[in-house]
Amino acid sequence: MCGIIGAVAESAIKPVLAGLGRLEYRGYDSSGISILSNNEIQTRKVQGKLNNLKNMLSVQPIDGDCAIGHTRWATHGKANVINAHPHQCGQVSVVHNGIIENYLQLKQQLLQWGHHFKSSTDSEVVPHLINHYLAQQMSQEEAIEKTINQLKGSYALGVLINGDSNNLYAIKQGSPLVISQGNDGAYMASDAMALGADSGKIYYPKDNELIKINSHEIKLCNSSTNKKIHYINNKHCTKVISKGEHSTFMEKEIFEQVDLLKRLSVNNHASDYSKINFNALNKITIIACGTSYYAASVAKCWFEKYANILVEIDIASEYRYRSPIIINNELVVFVSQSGETADTLAALQYAKSKKAQTLALVNVANSSIAREANFSFEIYAGPEIGVASTKAFSCQLAIFYKMAIEAAKQRAFIDKAELNQLALNFAQLPYIMEKVLQRCTDMKVMAEKLSTYSNILFLGRGVLTAIAQEGALKLKEISYIHAEAYAAGELKHGPIALLDENMPVLVIAPKNELTDKLLSNIQEVQARNAPLFVIGDSSIREYINLQENEFFELPSMPESILPIISAIPMQLLALYSAQMLGRNVDQPRNLAKSVTVE
Ligand code: F6R
Repeated sequence: MCGIIGAVAESAIKPVLAGLGRLEYRGYDSSGISILSNNEIQTRKVQGKLNNLKNMLSVQPIDGDCAIGHTRWATHGKANVINAHPHQCGQVSVVHNGIIENYLQLKQQLLQWGHHFKSSTDSEVVPHLINHYLAQQMSQEEAIEKTINQLKGSYALGVLINGDSNNLYAIKQGSPLVISQGNDGAYMASDAMALGADSGKIYYPKDNELIKINSHEIKLCNSSTNKKIHYINNKHCTKVISKGEHSTFMEKEIFEQVDLLKRLSVNNHASDYSKINFNALNKITIIACGTSYYAASVAKCWFEKYANILVEIDIASEYRYRSPIIINNELVVFVSQSGETADTLAALQYAKSKKAQTLALVNVANSSIAREANFSFEIYAGPEIGVASTKAFSCQLAIFYKMAIEAAKQRAFIDKAELNQLALNFAQLPYIMEKVLQRCTDMKVMAEKLSTYSNILFLGRGVLTAIAQEGALKLKEISYIHAEAYAAGELKHGPIALLDENMPVLVIAPKNELTDKLLSNIQEVQARNAPLFVIGDSSIREYINLQENEFFELPSMPESILPIISAIPMQLLALYSAQMLGRNVDQPRNLAKSVTVE
């Protein structure tokens, strides 16, 4: 998704380029930079990767002490140089993250006033409006305020204005923005990850606070307030995150899960979860998008099974549009790795407006969702760089598992022995996961065969249906193989029509109370000549004849931790299939790490 960074510092181009580099993980298709020096704004923009911009800057260098930069993830208009940011009009250059929903009306008005547009973006109306008001002798601050009062939608803006002194302005509405005062300069960015080592103190502006940054100061300068900026310490990791011995961040993050879970099992954070009075709750609603939503699906099964709490789950982009009923003593939980997902944030704001108690489960402690919710828990996965979520998923599940144990304890729904067993199962988790990862070459062999197909059907039963869905999502997002997932019992209600020798079916088949039912579903698949692949318990092979490359063995393990463990072969399958097909594993096409538009 779009990323923005701005700097007022000596040779500002350096921190801006470095910041754009740190934003690369979010996914983008073009980039650009504007610099203000000697009363002139100069801009360089390119399509494609940041290296193209660096190459251009080495041929056509620019320098100055006030700069803005942008990585664009196309929404309005194709991914090309003209649509790349910054967009300039007269004395004004702008970078924008978000969507200006009423840009067509604004553009119409500006066209009538005689403005000419170069790009197809929604963003270009912003420098035109500011420039228009500057031409009416408004001050820089007045022109920006007048402009943003007309904008509908969500935005974080970095604005350079050529004037008496070199000023960089930043303002936001609904989209993430962070300001930082360092020793060598002052900075603004859409993501604290973009800030470098010179960013000890940070400030998260509130909606519509206008921040002016120049070489003397950082100032809040809305016409109606004289508030001061209160900085907090930057908790974000500013050191360079490397892939280590791994070929991709995704691979590194998959193999890191063992250590993360070891850490989570030693530090039980029980004092956090016991802050929730589960006995007083009538219902929990869990809201999220994508992979985080599948974590919510698993959590629903755990809370219901072990703590007898009614749990509803919802997709964040749908929640506030379907008139949800919020009852007394309902806890609404928002799960988001990035903590910035626009749909999840908007759903949270909706729930708060209905007076619901809200809890955020995030990987980024100071993220917008963490700050907005009544209280928040961290999942302690550390920065996740690969676009496809892997370790954050396991850590989300791990925290939900612990919360479910706490809920079961408070509500005394299961006896003490069972409760202790759930905790013991959790302690075994990293060691069983290690065994699964040691079998990664078995998954490479399966991926070699599966990646030759264009479509794959995933099946699971019970709580593992969510893992089948997560596996299908992971595979399609990074290998671009079309994959869909169903609860195995649903096969005969429609998807079975797809089965033939070109439609492989991958089944998660552990040994549990649903094994016999699953074996019947597997018979239905084999009877239709569909190639069968199984991730499951060794005992399954007594019933089904499978080649080595059609079977991935899950070690025996307690039922309660099956969802966390069986996600691992799914992640490996996606990784190896994508690698075999020569895909960009860490930055798959069209996707962004942090989805900050609705
Ligand atoms: C898939 C993936 C996405 C995210 C989704 C929500 O691998 O990463 O589906 O899970 O965009 O993101 P967060 O959790 O940051 O709200």
